This record gives sequence, C-alpha cells and structure tokens, in this order.
Amino acid sequence: MKNIKTIAVLTSGGDSPGMNAAVRAVVRTALHHDLRTVGVRYGYRGLIENDMVEMNQTSVSNIIQQGGTILKSARSAEFKTEEGRQKAYKHLKENDIDAIVAIGGDGTFQGLTKISEECDVAVVGVPGTIDNDLFGTDETIGYDTALNTAMEAIDKIRDTADAHDRLFLVEVMGRDAGFIALETGIAGGAELILLPETLTDVEDVKERLREVFRIQRRSSLVVVAEGDETGGAYKLSEDLKGDFSQYEMRVCILGHIQRGGAPTARDRVLASRLGSAAIQALIDGHSNVMVGVVDSNVKISSLKNAWTKKKPINYEILELANILR
Ligand code: ADP
Ligand code: F6P
Repeated sequence: MKNIKTIAVLTSGGDSPGMNAAVRAVVRTALHHDLRTVGVRYGYRGLIENDMVEMNQTSVSNIIQQGGTILKSARSAEFKTEEGRQKAYKHLKENDIDAIVAIGGDGTFQGLTKISEECDVAVVGVPGTIDNDLFGTDETIGYDTALNTAMEAIDKIRDTADAHDRLFLVEVMGRDAGFIALETGIAGGAELILLPETLTDVEDVKERLREVFRIQRRSSLVVVAEGDETGGAYKLSEDLKGDFSQYEMRVCILGHIQRGGAPTARDRVLASRLGSAAIQALIDGHSNVMVGVVDSNVKISSLKNAWTKKKPINYEILELANILR
C-alpha cells in the first residue's frame, strides 16, 4: 500500500447526530500524525463536483456539540453510475488524495466498497446512521441520540394519551431495521412494539390490544417501526379502526426530529473514538474496513460485511418487552 499523506473525509447519506464529532476526530488525529485532511462537501456528490475544502485544527472547532454535519450530506444518484464515479476518481487524483474516510450508513458503505474496487485509494468506513443497522459494530454514531429524542417524544405523547384515554400508534424511523423501535419501545414502556425483524399479524395485534384494555388500561401506546410489514402506523390505524371504535386512536409519526439535535455524550465519545480509530487504521495499513465498537472495544472489521450481513436485533430485549408491557 502506498504511503498515505492526504486523507479525504466526507459525510454521506442520512445525517446523524455525532457526525461532526467524528469529522473533528478524523481531522485532529490526522493533524496529530502530520497528515493532511481535505473535507469533501455533500458526500459523494462533492467528489463528483470537486467540492472540497482544506481542513485544519480550527475548521473543526466548536462543532463537537452540534447535530447535522458541517461537511453537509447528500444522496447522489450519479455516484451509482460508472460515469459519475469516474468523475469522482479524476478529482481524487487531482487533489492528491491517498485515502478516504467516509462517515455514513449502509448505502455510503456500498459506494465506498465500489471505490476500493475501482480506484487506488485506501478506504475506511465510520458507521454514522441513526438506524444502527450496520454489522460489525454494537452501535452506530447517532443511534443513542435518536433513541433519546424518540423516547422523550414518546414520554410526552404518553401524557396526552393518558389524559384522553387514547390509543396512540407512534411510528419511529429505522428504515428496514427495528433497533430504534425496540429500544424506544422498552424505554417508553410501550404496550406493543412492532418490528420488521418479527412477523406482525394484525389479528394478533388486535388481540393483544384487547387484552391491554381488558386489564383496565385505558390508554395505550404502540411503537411501530417504519419498516414493519404492517406498512407503518397510518396503514395499521386503518386496519385497527373498525375494531377499536370505542377508543379514540391517534397516529404520530416522529420523523426527522429523530435525526437532529445535539449528540448525547455517548454519541460524542463514540464518534471521537471511531473518527480517531479510522486514521489509526489507515496508518496501520488497513483499507476496505469499517471501524466499530464491539463490547466497548474499538474493532476493525470487513467493510463489505457491514452492509451485506444482517445485524440481528437483541431478541432477549424483545422478550423482555413482552413481559413488561
Ligand atoms: P446511507 O449511507 O445513510 O445508507 P444512502 O443509502 O442514501 O444513505 O447512501 C448514500 C449514498 O451512497 C447514495 O446516495 C449513493 O451516492 C451511494 N451509494 C449507495 N449505494 C451505492 C451503490 N450500490 N453504488 C455506488 N454508490 C452507492
Ligand atoms: O437512514 C436514516 C433515515 O433517517 C432512515 O431512518 C429513514 O428511513 C431515512 O433515512 C429517511 O430518509 P430521508 O431523509 O431521505 O427522508
């Protein structure tokens, strides 16, 4: 592998709280080792458009506490094309870039894998997504903040649900993974949690809700993962409507508030560790890898496995939810 002197850092796909802390850690660790860093704006789109900025100690000052990403993010359809990627590779060469640290989710890592197959640069992925759906890391950057945001929202919904004796269906993000739903469901004391990882039978949902009402609970809260096969909270409310006409039902889609806000301490620490570990991985000669945290330790794993292998939910926690509801 060639000697690495210049590293490009980018954030791509859905932003997540803590991406800034990761960028800061990448830049400052690189500087610590006398390596040059270039920030690519708007993810892969910035590679195609040659939208890059020189990074230094102060360009990452005062950002550790900020949500979003100072480098901006984008979803680039053009990067999925051979032609688009060739433009990106030309700009990597023109800017003397030897390595890329990409902070993002599974789509970002698919793109990064393509780069490593088609271009002579070293690549390291840093898991940054609220969805927590990357294999090879116990947690992704932004997940903990999203969990806390969703939990606080659920607590508030609980108050009004209780005041009016209502049934609330609360939809949380996660794309096709149920991590946010499972843990916010537990933390918010949901009566029912519906996940894409488990088969949801609407008749079973009805039966379980009847049971909740039978034991004198007047209000109820169901956490629905957006990727659940019922089709989400609105669709489920249509399916339940006829059977629960005695109760007022409301749907609340938490949506993009889950992506914003100041990162929690846990996300800032995770992002700092992983951003720094990405640079160390490059220095140690690694490429085509993801840096993650397993059992509290930084771990380097295969980039391809991160997006091809399905990370399982914790079924023990799901079982617990069934006991505690
Ligand atoms: P996330 O990284 O949050 O999962 P996306 O799925 O939108 O977000 O992926 C981010 C970007 O990664 C896409 O907009 C696209 O530019 C790039 N990408 C995703 N899949 C591929 C692919 N198969 N080949 C090349 N680039 C890809
Ligand atoms: O991957 C992060 C995520 O927030 C998912 O949870 C959600 O399905 C998706 O991105 C929303 O994407 P967009 O911001 O493009 O609507």
